[in-house]
Amino acid sequence: MKAIQLHAPASLDNLKLAELPKPAAPGPGEISVRVRASSLNYHDYAVVKGMLPTQDKRIPMSDGAGEVTAVGEGVTGFAVGDQVVSTFFPDWLDGIPPANGFQRVPGDGIDGYACEMVTAPATSFTHVPKGYTPAEAATLTCAGLTAWRALFVDNAIKPGDTVLVQGSGGVSVFALQFAKMAGAEVIATSSSDAKLERLGSLGADHLINYRETEAWGAKAMELTQGRGVDCVVEIGGPGTLGQSMMAARIGGHIALIGVLTGFAGPVQTGLLMAKNIRLQGLTVGSRQHQLDMIEAIEANGIKPVLDKHFPLAELADAFRHQESRAHFGKIIVDI
Ligand SMILES: NC(=O)c1ccc[n+]([C@@H]2O[C@H](COP(=O)([O-])OP(=O)(O)OC[C@H]3O[C@@H](n4cnc5c(N)ncnc54)[C@H](OP(=O)(O)O)[C@@H]3O)[C@@H](O)[C@H]2O)c1
Repeated sequence: MKAIQLHAPASLDNLKLAELPKPAAPGPGEISVRVRASSLNYHDYAVVKGMLPTQDKRIPMSDGAGEVTAVGEGVTGFAVGDQVVSTFFPDWLDGIPPANGFQRVPGDGIDGYACEMVTAPATSFTHVPKGYTPAEAATLTCAGLTAWRALFVDNAIKPGDTVLVQGSGGVSVFALQFAKMAGAEVIATSSSDAKLERLGSLGADHLINYRETEAWGAKAMELTQGRGVDCVVEIGGPGTLGQSMMAARIGGHIALIGVLTGFAGPVQTGLLMAKNIRLQGLTVGSRQHQLDMIEAIEANGIKPVLDKHFPLAELADAFRHQESRAHFGKIIVDI
């Protein structure tokens, strides 16, 4: 089978197409899947750029969707031909995250889905939402579930609440769609007016260019008549957290998700305290969270926003496209 392997030292030029042996037939509790699509996340980018250490010849990509080709002994709930999508944490099925939960993330701690076939525990997959193509389904594993958890697991966003989303990448566009699904008002930010227009057409109620309006936290306060927002989907990290705290209402929630401006930095702890803000870090979600999200997607007919498609052999170009920040929503790899 064809696969992309990341050779050491990690770099986009060291993503090499390989012909590998087919995976073994499924053992007890396992299924085999013909992978049809994956999608790019910043996490995958961090792996292939060497920001996150991984093993030589690792097969990258956390997201994978395709059809079941064989079912091992004792597997219930999956049959040959079923359309499935991978989960981000194969060992986190329900409840709170397991200790060392990041150690076996596909494409990082174990081989991922930049390949034509995999055999893995059936619990590493769920069914896809009805009517979803593999490309659409492959956006759910990381970006979709992260946005879902921010709004509906770590918060309980409801009609009339206000949610602030940052930028137009995978997580943020899903957060916008889910927030609108729940009847919330959305303030969207972007570095680009053209992208803001697209965010508006997806239902964002207020648009802020964060390059032009550096004090976008104060602007969010103004847009909410001085109340502040109920939830900030914080994907920037230390460079954006200060403005997110300005934007949050008293007792508001900041879902601390991203590292786009780095992994550490000063925090205005006084402001955090004075505003009674709940700052909660999160790492994607469990398999049960994914099942809950899929039920909501089916009930509401939400479809992900897909950007460009790349063939597997051009995975490095897909990452170059992501790096250029020209994308809007999810970049797809067809396999
Ligand atoms: N903790 C978790 O479980 C988890 C899960 C998924 C993702 N993440 C993290 O969340 C972040 C986003 O991931 P992604 O996959 O959605 O990335 P992505 O699709 O590559 O999106 C990146 C987009 O973010 C926006 N952006 C970049 N710098 C920004 C800044 N300083 N302020 C506001 N917006 C900024 C840009 O949008 P514009 O071009 O519109 O400005 C950019 O296109 C990454 O740091 C990723 O590691 C964490």
